[in-house]
Amino acid sequence: MPINGTKYSKKGIAKKILMDKQLKLLAIAKQIEKCQLCIKDKIGKAVPGEGNSDAEIVFIGEAPGKTESLTGRPFIGRSGKLLRKLIEQAGIDEESVYITSPVKYLPKYITPKPQDIAHGRIHLNAQLDVISPKIIVMLGNVAAFALLNEKIMTSKRHGEIVKRDERHYFITVHPAAALRFTKMREILLSDFKKLKKIVKLYN
Ligand code: URA
Repeated sequence: MPINGTKYSKKGIAKKILMDKQLKLLAIAKQIEKCQLCIKDKIGKAVPGEGNSDAEIVFIGEAPGKTESLTGRPFIGRSGKLLRKLIEQAGIDEESVYITSPVKYLPKYITPKPQDIAHGRIHLNAQLDVISPKIIVMLGNVAAFALLNEKIMTSKRHGEIVKRDERHYFITVHPAAALRFTKMREILLSDFKKLKKIVKLYN
């Protein structure tokens, strides 16, 4: 198939799409690193996100923790280890997902303020527009507020799929809550079982 006058095979087209997306995500990561609003009242390294630029599933958290802010990588602390284990147990290849958060730096006051989320959603939406995943998994209330602009109690609405503006969002709780409360752990485990089935349906 010709693109801009050049002929590509099917494999070639897939490779070109992947590379274009990678370049766009890199450009967004650079914008995040230079963004003066993102860094306001925050510490450590920028944590733009990581994973497959053509991912079918994107996991969205809240804000980086200490471990993430030291390395620039999302979800590598305790809650990250739980998230990555659940992804594996759901039979989802970790290499095929993208992981990020609406707030791109560790807030000095730990809990992100509404203005941090309101600003972070600009970069987050830009990343999602590039990746264009089949499912966006919102891990907790901050992710839900960032993406749906609504205060959603994810512990009550977990397991639901919300379809909005061509995107499909799956609601669940944040792994950090699951580390603290048995009930939340049970919710997260049952939601990931559901997610496993949903992923199959979307393929
Ligand atoms: N928790 C989050 O919400 N995001 C991270 O990147 C790490 C921990």
